[in-house]
Amino acid sequence: MILVLDFGSQYNQLITRRIREHGVYSELHSHKITADEVKAMNPKGIILSGGPHSVYDDNSFRCDPELFELGVPILGICYGMQLMALHFGGEVSKATNREYGKAAIDLNQNPVLFAETPDRQTVWMSHGDKVIKTPEAFQTDATSPSTPIAAMSNPDRQLYGVQFHPEVRHSEYGQQLLKHFVYDVCNCQGNWTIENFIEMEAENIRTKVGERKVLCALSGGVDSSVVAALIDKAIGEQLTCIFVDHGLLRKNEADEVTKTFQDDFNMNFIKIDASDRFLSKLEGVDDPEQKRKIIGNEFIYVFDDEADKLKDIDFLAQGTLYTDVIESGTDTAQTIKSHHNVGGLPEDMQFELIEPLNTLFKDEVRELGVQLGLPESIVRRQPFPGPGLAIRVLGEITEEKLAIVRESDAILREEIAAAGLERDIWQYFTVLPDIRSVGVMGDARTYDYTIGIRAVTSVDGMTSDWARIPWDVLEKISTRLVNDVAHINRVVYDITSKPPATIEWE
Ligand code: XMP
Repeated sequence: MILVLDFGSQYNQLITRRIREHGVYSELHSHKITADEVKAMNPKGIILSGGPHSVYDDNSFRCDPELFELGVPILGICYGMQLMALHFGGEVSKATNREYGKAAIDLNQNPVLFAETPDRQTVWMSHGDKVIKTPEAFQTDATSPSTPIAAMSNPDRQLYGVQFHPEVRHSEYGQQLLKHFVYDVCNCQGNWTIENFIEMEAENIRTKVGERKVLCALSGGVDSSVVAALIDKAIGEQLTCIFVDHGLLRKNEADEVTKTFQDDFNMNFIKIDASDRFLSKLEGVDDPEQKRKIIGNEFIYVFDDEADKLKDIDFLAQGTLYTDVIESGTDTAQTIKSHHNVGGLPEDMQFELIEPLNTLFKDEVRELGVQLGLPESIVRRQPFPGPGLAIRVLGEITEEKLAIVRESDAILREEIAAAGLERDIWQYFTVLPDIRSVGVMGDARTYDYTIGIRAVTSVDGMTSDWARIPWDVLEKISTRLVNDVAHINRVVYDITSKPPATIEWE
């Protein structure tokens, strides 16, 4: 395992990611970790990440100085290199201006991290301060016009520093550099796979849980489904899943989830049909925030009621991902996030948390789902908001409007699949704006609803662009929507990016 210490760089989750791409397991931990804790983790190497501070700032992040004495190979990146230089008696100069962007470095006598790469290469710089004097027994491995010590090392003690960011793709040979560090310096084997992860986590869960019981709030989304399948593998009967159908799910969704977990996986699966409860609370409500609040709260009440009925539950399993942990800061990783996809569970619930995915990225979670035998329909599921179709029926929700969105969404999904575009479009759905307009069908005048198609490309949902669906596919979708769904007489395509729009309409 390669341990990455977090000094606050925006790139630090990329470092662990890149290391894993070399088949070596890697975890990101707070810079506050002690040398004793590190020793207990027995890492084969440590990477000190970059960070936004100057080493001269008051309260700038430091690490336990004993780390440098553990005899474990260390690679300092940017701020990490400056910390290493200071620790061993080098000098760091305070910046008068920042160096940001691509830079060319020249290598000195074949340094190990740069083996088999050209003498001059492009790297990505993003720093203010820089090392201006290497510590004793360190050598300068690379230089650039504005950063004379762009890389340094003390090979005897297996200590390395680079001022640039090898984890960023703009560093031409950055991946090779990390590979040399993990294979040639740290002697890692490169045999980490998702199958190892399943075995390792299942064992961890068994040890942690013992004979006790675990509750999992299953939303049917990828993350909670994979958590349920993983914990089921680890402890089987000791796990109970609660699935709340709030009546705002997509067509066939509740049945698919029930079939997978109750029938195929044969789990302790409790499906709560709470549609009436939710829909009656939403009656007459047209404000989007109000709707979200009502649904979030009601979810908690329903879940709480059910959890109360079950006896002797000690653990609550959650599908928290690595990105969620990073977003909330690695020092606060245990906080239950209010925007959790099951609506935000109450913080005063007296459960210990189990979050087996909190070291994984989304695509790794999908891979895990496949290995655990979950069907494609769940593993490849697009993001679906906790409040469900309620925020895709604009204004007041009625059963009729919900049925229109549900049917039209199903048709859209069928046609996108038929066109082979499922993997190209990040998220796609229909929305029902509260608009009716005049049309003509046969010889008769209609006065019916307009349906909107929303389809976006995105990496993480934070920004998005509208998907360029081929016109013939759009044409087919439009024809089917008007013909097959009652009360639709007009179809519009949303061609706004985010920002300025959001992906959902409410
Ligand atoms: P917006 O509409 O904010 O959506 O651009 C970004 C992504 O988040 C999803 N989304 C939600 N997911 N609970 C969730 O779990 C929510 O309340 C929620 N609201 C939006 C949305 O579908 C998109 O993928």
